[in-house]
Amino acid sequence: MNTQPRSIVLLGFMGTGKTAVGRVLARRLDRRFVDLDQQVEERAGCSIAALFETAGEAAFRKLEREAVRDIRDQPGLVVATGGGVVLDPRNLADLAAGGRLVCLCATPETILRRVRHHTTRPLLRTADPLARIRELLAAREPLYDRIPLRVATDGLTPEQVADVILEAPGIQP
Ligand code: S3P
Repeated sequence: MNTQPRSIVLLGFMGTGKTAVGRVLARRLDRRFVDLDQQVEERAGCSIAALFETAGEAAFRKLEREAVRDIRDQPGLVVATGGGVVLDPRNLADLAAGGRLVCLCATPETILRRVRHHTTRPLLRTADPLARIRELLAAREPLYDRIPLRVATDGLTPEQVADVILEAPGIQP
């Protein structure tokens, strides 16, 4: 019998806290933390911003898909995904097969506040990032809606979000 617990996979838009919460969860559960964006950067040999600039979004999505396939059969991880991982339905299916999906959400205003000092997100490099966030959120909402377990992170610290997740049904083995 496989006694390894299922991975916990955090999804959701940019700036909803996936990486920060993932690190807290991994520490508390004594599990390995995997950041899919970091896996992509390692494969690409450059930052995500540089990858978008030199090879385009499609090249990024291809490496993101490979990174998902790489971790899908590994149990017992805490995984933080990139906000656009849901765009490929195969990713969602693979991640759901091996893990428990948790979608983090936040309002566009919270997201802007959290990401505005970062220059690492090519999709938000625009004159009006709030409008861009609203537009991308509207397009992706139906995809995030497929994940039954959703946690609003507005006004919460990563520790508090981790508390909520750890109390959710089916998270603890
Ligand atoms: C993206 C989100 C980013 C990163 C890339 C594309 C997206 O990850 O994967 O810039 O399409 O929403 P975070 O959600 O960790 O910022």
